[in-house]
Amino acid sequence: MKNIFKLALCAGVASLVSTAAMAAGMTVGFSQIGSESGWRAAETSVTKQEAEKRGITLKFADAQQKQENQIKAIRGFIAQGVDAILVAPVVATGWEEVLGEAKEANIPVVLLDRGVEASQDLYLTSVASDQVKEGHVAGDWLVKTVGDKPCKVVELQGTVGSTPAINRKKGFEEAIAGHSNITIARSQTGDFTRAKGKEVMEGFLKAENGGKDICAMYAHNDDMAVGGIQAIKDAGLKPGKDILVVSIDAVPDIFAAMAAGEANATVELTPNMAGPAFDALEAFKKDGKQPEKFIITESKLFTPADNPQGEYEARKGLGY
Ligand code: AHR
Repeated sequence: MKNIFKLALCAGVASLVSTAAMAAGMTVGFSQIGSESGWRAAETSVTKQEAEKRGITLKFADAQQKQENQIKAIRGFIAQGVDAILVAPVVATGWEEVLGEAKEANIPVVLLDRGVEASQDLYLTSVASDQVKEGHVAGDWLVKTVGDKPCKVVELQGTVGSTPAINRKKGFEEAIAGHSNITIARSQTGDFTRAKGKEVMEGFLKAENGGKDICAMYAHNDDMAVGGIQAIKDAGLKPGKDILVVSIDAVPDIFAAMAAGEANATVELTPNMAGPAFDALEAFKKDGKQPEKFIITESKLFTPADNPQGEYEARKGLGY
């Protein structure tokens, strides 16, 4: 081997070793929202696995859907002097003070999967999908699927005040704007849970002629869609046929529903937010490299043409 290559190889190995060594020493606090959905459970598992793989000590705090618990957990991480903090913010507002405290303590914060309405200097980076785009992808699919046919949509919104609920609504509305045959007849929060999705859909079905007037159900996540599918079946209708079902996340259960002909489309949200977050933190800790402010993950549409049974099999063991 030519010396120059040997040198480059040694330098590469040395930098890998030193990055790994830095990461191995890192202690990171993670304030997770809770376990409201299959997607959330997978994000938690993937984050723990990524930390273990990289030799990072992860301090995990489950906020049980409460912002006050997240604020408490972040203050606890600051008091313990962690090297960095990951936070999946349950709602968008009310973060300035606590993020300011982390900044004051020189602890970089990375936002995972949801955004905040706060100054961008208060966090190092945000790893999330383009949630407006997710709504667009879902809406574009519906526009294409129904063509000129009149279509009354019922919408199951995510957690009130959370960025995915705000943005997925916005994106969907933008996509159907200009298609006057498609209207959102009813829209209510199902809080991203299966049980609430079912309950809210039961109300929609009753209010809309037993469901006969509903053309499509748009759910801001798959778990609410799965709850809604059950409500449609209980009302004696066929989900996926009598009422089209479009949602977001791409969790195994929606692929099982799709394989059974009971769901029509989902937009994928990767549960691996921690991988890019740890990469950014490792580079920042190593040589102060500032990551992009927004690291955007992909939003891919899946329909029954995409081998739903195969997708179910491939995903079912991944922590969902
Ligand atoms: O913030 C991401 C959203 O939160 C997921 O789409 C949903 O399933 C989760 O609860």
